[in-house]
This record gives sequence, structure tokens and C-alpha cells, in this order.
Amino acid sequence: METKKALIAPSILSADFANLQKDIEMLNNSEADWIHVDVMDGVFVPNISLGLPVIEAIRKHSLKPLDVHLMIVQPERYVERFKEAGAFQITVHYEACAHLHRNIEQIKSMGCKAGVALNPHTPIAVLADILYMVDTVCLMSVNPGFGGQKFIENTFSKVKELVLLSQEKNCDPYIEIDGGVNAVNAKPLVDCGANVLVAGNFIFSSPTPMDTIQNLSTRIR
Ligand code: DX5
Ligand code: ZN
Repeated sequence: METKKALIAPSILSADFANLQKDIEMLNNSEADWIHVDVMDGVFVPNISLGLPVIEAIRKHSLKPLDVHLMIVQPERYVERFKEAGAFQITVHYEACAHLHRNIEQIKSMGCKAGVALNPHTPIAVLADILYMVDTVCLMSVNPGFGGQKFIENTFSKVKELVLLSQEKNCDPYIEIDGGVNAVNAKPLVDCGANVLVAGNFIFSSPTPMDTIQNLSTRIR
């Protein structure tokens, strides 16, 4: 069978928080590649989600790498603890970091993969002098803070721009799309150059999440 052309990273933001173990075990048995964990501080984004103890608990059950997306101000205060809690990759927001170069160095010096997330209004060009250090660029395709929002179509052109910038800079970061990913936009995103798809609501609001992940995988082969 042809392998899929992008990784799938279900976002547990839309999972059943009263029974996370069950959902993690489902993901372990699914075609998911990473588990995307959304951390919100109520300051950088207008919502509060989960934090360190929950990630530690997830790690005990998860067989998949934890892709931790920090939607928090001053992430440098906490990245070490997120690494200890079990993150394999830590993504910080461009908009939350006055000293992004230092923040990325800090994450990488701990042996963690480093990601940078861009809000929908932030142009790709701001990455020109940091791309060479980054393992993953996370393009927000909704305004961060909530699951289940509508996909912003302008994301397609940002993916194409990022592909061009990566070629120009001779870099090969993962291009991760976060927000409103579904069965309709998954393949067109991958065709443009995206290679990690985060999906929360689309997976967890379906009656059979494991089949939905399988279905998503099939669409991007
Ligand atoms: C939004 C989060 C996303 C979110 C995606 O702030 O960063 O990871 O959970 O969820 P859906 O797929 O429901 O848009
Ligand atoms: Zn996210």
C-alpha cells in the first residue's frame, strides 16, 4: 500500500478530557503519527486548556510522540518542564517571542525538536532568518484558541510561499497545518506542500474517530 504523504497529528483538544486514556489508546492503535497537544494560557489566546500534569499523564499511555503547541506568553519560562513532561517537539508562537532565536536555541539545546507557529495574519517572510534552525513551521489555519473553527482559505497560498522560502533557504522544515483540517482540504493542502496535518474536531466529533483517521490517511496517499 502506498504510504501517506503527510503525517497526521490528532489534536487532543477535542478529546474526552474525562476519559483521556481511552482516546490515547485509540490513537495508539490508529494511523496517527504524532499526538498534538494544545497548551493555552488565557493570555496569549482567549482560552485556557491544559498544562504539565495532563501532559505527564498522557505520556504514560501514549505510544506516539507528543507534539506540544504552546499558545502561551513567555514560553522560555516553561519549555524545560514541557520537555521533562514528555514533549518530543515544542512549538512556540512567533507572535509570543521577542527573542525567537534564543527561544529556538533553548528548545534545541534540550534535545527537543523546535517548531514555530504563525498566526493567520503573520506573513511567511518573517521566517527568513530563522528557518534554518526550525524543525517544523506550524501555519495556523484558524485564529488560535479554540477547536472546531472554520478553515481560513488563505492558508493555501501561505503553504506555497513557505515551500518557496524553504527552497530559497535550502531548508526542509515540516509544514504543519493547524485548524479546521478536514476531509475536503486535506489533500489540496498536501498537494501544495503541507506534510503534517493537525485535526481535532474533525476526528473527535466523528462517531468512529479511528475510521476517520484511516479515512484521512487514505485521502493523502
Ligand atoms: C487551535 C489549536 C488547534 C485545534 C485544532 O488553537 O491550536 O490545534 O485544536 O482543532 P480543529 O481541528 O478542531 O480546528
Ligand atoms: Zn494546535
